[in-house]
Formats: sequence, C-alpha cells, structure tokens
Amino acid sequence: MAAIAGGVCSLLCSSSSPVYTTKLPPSSVPTKLHSSLIQPISFAAPLYSTRRRVRMAHTLLPHATLGLTKPAASAIPEIAFSAKETDFSEWKGDILAVAVSEKDVSKDSNSKFENAILRRIDNQLSGLLAEASAEEDFTGKAGQSTVLRLSSLGFRRLVLIGLGQSKPSTNITTYRGLGEAIAAAAKASQASKVAIVLASSEGISSDMKLETASAIASGTLLGVYEDNRFKSESKKPLLKSVEIIGLGVGPELENKLKHAADICSGVILGRELVNAPANILTPVVLAAEASKIAAKYSDVLTATILDADQCKELKMGSYLGVAAASANPPQFIHLCYKPPNGQVKSKLAIVGKGLTFDSGGYNIKTGPGCSIELMKFDMGGSAAALGAAKALGQIKPPGVEVHFVVAACENMISGTGMRPGDIVTASNGKTIEVNNTDAEGRLTLADALVYACKQGAQKIVDLATLTGACVVALGPSIAGVFTPSDDLAKEIFAASEITGEKFWRMPLEESYWESMKSGVADMVNTGARQGGAITAALFLNQFVDEKVQWLHIDMAGPVWSEKKRCATGFGVSTLVEWVLKNSS
Ligand code: BES
Ligand code: MN
Ligand code: ZN
Repeated sequence: MAAIAGGVCSLLCSSSSPVYTTKLPPSSVPTKLHSSLIQPISFAAPLYSTRRRVRMAHTLLPHATLGLTKPAASAIPEIAFSAKETDFSEWKGDILAVAVSEKDVSKDSNSKFENAILRRIDNQLSGLLAEASAEEDFTGKAGQSTVLRLSSLGFRRLVLIGLGQSKPSTNITTYRGLGEAIAAAAKASQASKVAIVLASSEGISSDMKLETASAIASGTLLGVYEDNRFKSESKKPLLKSVEIIGLGVGPELENKLKHAADICSGVILGRELVNAPANILTPVVLAAEASKIAAKYSDVLTATILDADQCKELKMGSYLGVAAASANPPQFIHLCYKPPNGQVKSKLAIVGKGLTFDSGGYNIKTGPGCSIELMKFDMGGSAAALGAAKALGQIKPPGVEVHFVVAACENMISGTGMRPGDIVTASNGKTIEVNNTDAEGRLTLADALVYACKQGAQKIVDLATLTGACVVALGPSIAGVFTPSDDLAKEIFAASEITGEKFWRMPLEESYWESMKSGVADMVNTGARQGGAITAALFLNQFVDEKVQWLHIDMAGPVWSEKKRCATGFGVSTLVEWVLKNSS
C-alpha cells in the first residue's frame, strides 16, 4: 500500500502554526548557520526588538494579509494504491477501468474482440461491450474513453480508456495519461474504489511493469488533486483506493508505488507554492514553508534562513538590490540534505529563482502579453527546489548531499528601490550595471549561485522562470537547458526520460556576451533582445566557479498551465530523479 498523507502548506492555511525564523547571535554572522538557530516564534509570543516587531506585524501576522484571504487547508488526495494479480471478473468496486490500445479494439470476422480480456468481459456482458464501443466509435485513441453503467457485475461502471497506438512497452506519458483518465472517470462518477487492468500486458518486461504501474499511480494522484485552498467552497476528493491488476505484485512494486507517491507529494507542494498569490506567499512565508519541510524531515534536512542584514554581511548586493523596493523583507533560504548514514560521495546544489512577485520594478511590466498578473509564478524555480527537498526528505537517498538555495524576494517599485542604471556588486565582487530592473531573476540568482559554490557543491542545477524569450523559443511546455557540461546535460536528460518532463538543450553562445558589456561596470544585466534566454544564461555563468559543473533550466514556459489555469509543479520529479542518479 502506498498513500500520501496530508499536510502540505498548512502554514499557508492556518493562523495557529508557528513561523520559523533565525535568531542571530548579537554581533557576528557565523559562516555556517545551523538549524539550532531556527526557533519557532508563535504569533502570540512577545517579540524582542522594536524593529523586528514592526516588521513582524507587517509581514507575519495573519490578520495583516492584504485582502483578508484565509486559505483553506490543502486537501491532498489520500489514495491507497496496490498491485494485485486477482481475476478482474471477480473484482468488486465502483469502476473497473480497462486500458486498451487501438490494436486491442480490433474485432474478428464475427465482430468479436480479438483481445482475450475484452472478449471475456464482452461475453460476460452478452455482447454489450462490442456494441457500445462500436456505437460510440471507440477506437482506443489516446484520450478517448467510454463508460458503461452496469448492474449485473460486481462493479457499477466499466470504463474503456484509450492508450493510442502505443505498444505495451512504450512510454511513461501514455500511462501518466491513463492515470489522469482514471482520475477523471472517478471524479465524474464519484467513485471511491477503482481497479485498472491493461488489455494487453503480456509483452511488458518486468522493469517496464514497475514503471507502468508507477506512472499510472502518479497520473491518478496528480489528476485527482485540485488546489481548492482559495475557493470558498470545495468538494473533497472521494477516490480512496486504486488496485492495479496484472502488472505484478510484491515488495519491489510496492516500493515503486511508494516512490511515486513521495514524488507526487513534492509535485503537489510545488504546485501549491506557485498557485499561492503574492499577498499570501511572501518571502517570509516561503522561508517558513522551507523550515517546515526541514522540521518534518529533521533526520536528513536542516534549514538556514538569512535575513537582509545577514545577506548584507555576505555582500549579496545584487540580490539585495532587487529586494530593496519591497515592504516584504527578503529571505535567503538554504536547506541542506544529508543522508541518514554513510559517506557522502557527491555534493549537489539546486538553486531556484524565488521572486514571490515580479512587477518589473521601474521597468514595470506593461502592455498586453506582459503577464504581470501571473508573476506570482516567478518563484516556480524555488517551488521545484522545495518540492524536490520534500520528496527527498521522504525518500532519503544514500551517498549524496544536496543544498537547496533560494534568494527569495519581491521585485517592486518604491523610493527605496533600484533605479535603471544603478550599479550593484555581487558577492563574488563582480559589478553589474542594471540597465533593466525587469531582468531581476538573474541578479538574485547571481548571489545564490556564489553561495551554492561556497557550500562545496560539485554540480549545480538552477531552475528559473527567467525569460520570456525562452517561452518564445520553446513554447509553453518545454524548458530550456543551458550548460557547458555535456555530462551534466546527459544526467538531466536521463532523469527527464524517467519523468516525462520536457527539456531542450540550447546553446551557450559565447559570442553573444558582446551585448552584455558595460562601459562603466563589469557587465550589464540585460543584453540584446535577440537571444535573450542565451544572454541570461551567459550572465548566470559569470557567478559559477569554473571547477563546478553547472546547468541552468529556464522554465518560464512550463511552470504554468494556461489550459488548467494552474501551476504544473514542473521540475520537481526530474530534480528528484537527478539526485537519485547521483546517490549510491
Ligand atoms: N519573470 C520574468 C520572465 C518571464 C516572462 C517569465 C514572461 C514568464 C513569462 C523575468 O524576470 C523577466 O522579466 N525577464 C525579462 C528579461 C528582459 C528584461 C531582458 C523578459 O523576459 O522580458
Ligand atoms: Mn522580470
Ligand atoms: Zn522575473
């Protein structure tokens, strides 16, 4: 059995949860802060300095939330997945779903199904299935489904779900889609107990059976999940159990299903963080969410949260420049994963862009298509990092250390803010002429990357909703990959093969650096309009040690689903698989 339990984002939903913050030693800033510095502060507790009290009152107290919105608790579906080898005709429940490819639907000269499973069901139903599939023109195409209401068998509905042309041994997206179709069917008929059988599973290798079952489970979980925290009324998901019949049984398969559920809980956290609007999810709340993950998986995770003063000590002028206009203070988030026991063989870092809102600053986002109203999603990189941290906190891989780094802030406008033309100095000493305040993500990532290198990371992956140019190049569902390292590219692409998330490698064309030159500083932050995603990546490269392998993911497109009007949770699953590839 594998189920995921509730609890994502309770801080976003509850006024009684403690908020975690760092308590500074009086004068010095330690080079390495430990989680022991993180202490829960309850809203009722007296606060020590006046300065902090003012700030806390403004940013932390729930009643101060702009718009008076109080999110409801997140309802993560709790579905028990199990693998069975039972005879499906004996099965009792609400829906028996049968997955069929186009080939499975073919009939012989007597209009009988050639496929043994379909033929058996059809016989039990006295030919009703053949009739219905013909009437409804069900050909087994991917995305097609047809529902039969029954009274004669042990289940109320039989649902045929099309897999397309796919041979049984092919790809994960097909079975993810099958899971989503199961979720849709369960929702439509308020089913709580469902079983799924593949019409042809004989040809599938045992490894592929594991992958298939896990893809079905993820698709179902993520398909059932709805983020209703901000709706005044919402329906609870009713689906409680899914039995996967015919893909094997045993501990290996059960583990695989548990693994899928762990990743899904990270994906759901990623989605919820991105869906939460900027009046709810401020940098302080994002940091508190990170601390909560560390507290929950305290055997493997520790949290360090730096405030603006501490970042100033670390000379993060580039990041603090972006944060300077906001009434919501910046929070520099660092989670560290260490395996429960044994040696660490590789040290990784995952850096996520964490702009809880991007107005553009003085170069304000105006005009049609600028999507300013969606810029709550500009912390999608950090959501992917924290979602992965949560999943890894549950999976606990050996032999690998992972640093999760987020320089969280808002890009706003005020008299204290950065002006176009200002020169800022990053923590590696490099100076930047800010010729466009809307190219802020790279300024925050600059200091985050320097920090990640200082942690001793051998490989760094950063994720950012960095450029509109990348969306123009690759469209809404493919992320751009930029890296000088073919090896690291291979690792990320191998991980994406498992998860089905879409990436495309882009060139790091050195000659384009020409447009990033400044007459007065080491570089500008914005180059020519053409090749904007590439110059952004070249800029980030300036802040990475040469001996470190680094890969940048521009996820400005896939962070958000226009169709579902919701966050996708993009990046979480691929990051988890990448870390697992680096574990021992
Ligand atoms: N957060 C945006 C990138 C973005 C734009 C993501 C649209 C998703 C959809 C980023 O901070 C930004 O504003 N980038 C500018 C850079 C430009 C000023 C060089 C852009 O892409 O327009
Ligand atoms: Mn911007
Ligand atoms: Zn941005």
